[in-house]
Amino acid sequence: MFTSDTLADQTILITGGGSGLGLAMAKKFASFGSNIAICGRTEEKLKNAVEEIEEAANDSTAKYYVADVRDYDRIEEMTGEIVSDFGEMTGLVNNAAGNFLSASEDLSPGGFKAVVDIVLHGSFNCTHVFGNYLIDEEREGNILNMVTTYSEGIGSAFVLPSACGKAGVLAMTRSLAYEWATYGIRLNAIAPGPFPTKGAWERLVPDESAEQKFLSKIPAGRYGDKEELANLATFLMSDMAPYITGECVVIDGGERLSAGQFNFIDKLGSREELKGFFKMMHKKED
Ligand code: HXC
Repeated sequence: MFTSDTLADQTILITGGGSGLGLAMAKKFASFGSNIAICGRTEEKLKNAVEEIEEAANDSTAKYYVADVRDYDRIEEMTGEIVSDFGEMTGLVNNAAGNFLSASEDLSPGGFKAVVDIVLHGSFNCTHVFGNYLIDEEREGNILNMVTTYSEGIGSAFVLPSACGKAGVLAMTRSLAYEWATYGIRLNAIAPGPFPTKGAWERLVPDESAEQKFLSKIPAGRYGDKEELANLATFLMSDMAPYITGECVVIDGGERLSAGQFNFIDKLGSREELKGFFKMMHKKED
């Protein structure tokens, strides 16, 4: 459904675009004609990423900016640099995140703060600066926030700072979607389930048995593919979705539904064995 010019005439900043899901989105957007700005803390990583993005690009360019999303002044300065380098900025993907596993009673205040600062304050900083640029310039624009399936409602044990930060980002998405609709600014979110990336897996999946348990919660029977997420992000950032705002799209192969009361029955045997079992139960009733 996309064509090579689906995102032509766009310049999109992807925070944390030097690796993982951020880089996958950057390459996908570039292949559909968008200019790309990526930012992060590690210059070497960003430099290599820009080469990869330019290889995938279709008539568009990519640049990197060394910036920590926690630093409001640097984000303001960087946004000025992007506008000066590309002539404009049309979209923002708040993708930079921090996370680690910890028993919450053992968290240090510094550990809680580091993650919430990156996830929530970082997303606010970039959104606030970009939103003000759009409003001052009387331009329309598009913001996409990466949250998680535990952002809404259920939270998650052992990742308390991330659960708190991402819930805040989702609240920001919906609050501003309403408040800034009058300026033609759309805000949406994507809630990915498990997509194996080096950054997340190293910090969140302790060993192979944990990985198997993780996988067993996904009724689709597999992890997500970065391409699938990048396609969804492309749709939301494109002119194909002009009336969608304040929405959070879950992409998780059904993992969030794993709490269903009788879902565990699926694990008691093969589908044929279960059917035999159900038949026996049915007969007993006769
Ligand atoms: C306990 C930890 C810790 C750990 C750091 N800290 N790692 N505490 N367990 N594993 C504590 C430190 O001791 C310190 O506390 C404080 O956190 C700050 O640590 P620094 O290393 O100084 O901070 P900084 O360099 O800013 O690094 C931030 C970080 C780091 C969040 C801690 O992991 C990072 O940069 N991560 C970015 C990449 C990332 O996390 N990617 C995964 C995102 S995945 P004190 O008390 O000394 O101050 C994701 C997806 C979720 O979000 C959904 C998955 C399904």
